[in-house]
Amino acid sequence: MGKSPADRAVELRELINYHNYRYHVLDAPVITDDEYDDLYRELVQIEREHPALVTPDSPTQRVGAEPRSDLPKVQHPAPVLSLANAFSKEDLVAWRTRIGKLLPERTTLDYVVEPKLDGLSVVLTYERGVFTMGATRGNGEIGEDVTPNLRTIKSLPLRIPADPDGPPPPERLVVRGEVFIRLDDFYRLNETRLKNDDPPYVNPRNTASGSLRQLDASITADRPLQLACYQILYGEGDALPATQWDVLHFLTGLGFPVMLCHSTHCDDLEAVLDYLEVWEPKRHELDFEIDGLVIKVNNLQISNNLGVVGKDPRGAMAFKFPAEERTTQLLDIGINVGRTGVLAPYALLNPVEVGGVTVKQATLHNFEDIQLKDIRIGDTVIVKRSGEVIPYVVGPVVDLRAGEEKPILPPETCPYCHAPIVRKEREIAYYCSNPDCPERLVRSIEYWVSRRAMDIEGMGERIVRQLVEEAIIHDVADLYYLEKSDLLHLEGFGDKKADNLLAAIDASRHRPLDRLLTALGIKGVGNTVAALLLEYFPSLEMLMEVSQEALENVPGLGPHTASAVVAFWEEDRNRRRIEKLRAGGVELVPVEKQPASDRLAGLTFVITGTLPNLSRDEASELIEQHGGKVSGSVSGKTDYVLAGENPGSKLAQAQQRGVPIISESTLFNLLES
Ligand code: IVH
Repeated sequence: MGKSPADRAVELRELINYHNYRYHVLDAPVITDDEYDDLYRELVQIEREHPALVTPDSPTQRVGAEPRSDLPKVQHPAPVLSLANAFSKEDLVAWRTRIGKLLPERTTLDYVVEPKLDGLSVVLTYERGVFTMGATRGNGEIGEDVTPNLRTIKSLPLRIPADPDGPPPPERLVVRGEVFIRLDDFYRLNETRLKNDDPPYVNPRNTASGSLRQLDASITADRPLQLACYQILYGEGDALPATQWDVLHFLTGLGFPVMLCHSTHCDDLEAVLDYLEVWEPKRHELDFEIDGLVIKVNNLQISNNLGVVGKDPRGAMAFKFPAEERTTQLLDIGINVGRTGVLAPYALLNPVEVGGVTVKQATLHNFEDIQLKDIRIGDTVIVKRSGEVIPYVVGPVVDLRAGEEKPILPPETCPYCHAPIVRKEREIAYYCSNPDCPERLVRSIEYWVSRRAMDIEGMGERIVRQLVEEAIIHDVADLYYLEKSDLLHLEGFGDKKADNLLAAIDASRHRPLDRLLTALGIKGVGNTVAALLLEYFPSLEMLMEVSQEALENVPGLGPHTASAVVAFWEEDRNRRRIEKLRAGGVELVPVEKQPASDRLAGLTFVITGTLPNLSRDEASELIEQHGGKVSGSVSGKTDYVLAGENPGSKLAQAQQRGVPIISESTLFNLLES
């Protein structure tokens, strides 16, 4: 028997109040936002079905949590509201139907869709154009005065209009926005913390919140906080915008940072629903976290007249993306050994659904990270999955420890070959010390056959393991000595499959030298560096004899890679491997790359998004063949940004810098002109 609705409501209220306090007051949540939303939703549902159970102190009856007590308090000029959540398109359609009933028949509505930034809401007051006060949302009526802290945010205009020739501002203007941290900045901040032996921050949202709510503004000034504004909470004077779309433009005109380039106007709900599809892949390309989209009735008078339910205005809805962070039990750890011998620990989890996918394993990065975050076996851990990125363990929920959790230590011997584990100087990682470790061999063969290296089709991990386990190959060069009879007695191999594999291996005998150099797996030498090295030392013989000094003179080649190359050839086994490959019929084909034309000479391109015909690699190659350069980031040197579908933040950066944005077909035109 489950609990009665009354008992469950009491329990939910307690839980929600506790987590509210942890989140808003302590800045130290122990469950994810989505789990909180689930609890809240369940309570709303019970109270809706059993109105008699609603109590005045229910968390559904108030706006936010109490503000933290040590900062001065401020009364907001109007309630700083929250948003009701929609979790599906059906929820949005139901919302439209609900509000439709409150509007005169046949009222048409248009909407604005904005990203829902996962940050901290702030309220900014300007008197006669001067920033006089900034506050957190607090409980929605009373917030905390964080004016000096907000002043340290560089994108916050201290005076409006920011451009002296801009439009005159209202006498008194109160604007609402969100303070957040970009992912790049967040990672950089954590790198510094790790270097200083400080525990890393858990996520950008709480870091932003903690950074702003400091009594000492100089701490805030050191944190990379960003601002985006989206609402006029209060305005005095005439000529205030009448629609949300105009609000975004009005605020932009005054010099406020606004997410205009990520917002859109939709003529009807149908268009909104279509637009949601566009966002699904796009959200992962942003360099800041959003937890959904906000859909707002564009006409502000209609929106205001719709009123408020509890703390949620009827005129807007949050559309939440599926959860991307969950908590679950860490059952045990496993260890992968890579081709260089590096140990990569991963978590074995109690299966949990994260963002629509069941996750049983997640990476634990390395043992240093495990130690710093103090992750233990048996812990409840936060697991995160975003986009195509492999799920990873964010950290433990220390509050939920029972006391029996076991610390995780690096092993003393390799879990595959039992050779001693060693650590290299100035490196975080632990390594298997045995160059003949069978697991390392499997991984290096997998790398050898991969597309970017020797590209041997049909040779997956399973076959590689079979060949190593049956002791048919002991080195990548043995691939070129395989005979059909070797394959035929392997499980799953018939005549045809064996022929196909041998043909694929044969085809790889004629790959250009840069592929072979990549396949050798020298530390730091991927496709690009391999091609660069061969430009200066066009044969393997030259590369084998080259000095560290000569390598360091290659522009763009760092000292670490230079010494890795020298060290590689110092090992006899590597030189012997080349001989064995040569004898096995592997041709060492020189790379010949004649530029097709110099039409793009002197031009630097940045590529973003998915192009209609070319892959990114193909586009880069095409540009380079015609004398152009391709760079990874937009800078003062960028001449064009080549953008396809679902472009990333590079597009916005290009817009900001006024760099021309071109499509694939314009690129083709440039080549033909
Ligand atoms: S509008 C009446 N717009 O989401 C206006 N909120 O879950 C209500 N948020 O407390 C808010 N981005 O802190 C609005 N573009 C956006 C937003 C946004 C983030 C936050 C805001 C709010 C929370 C509600």
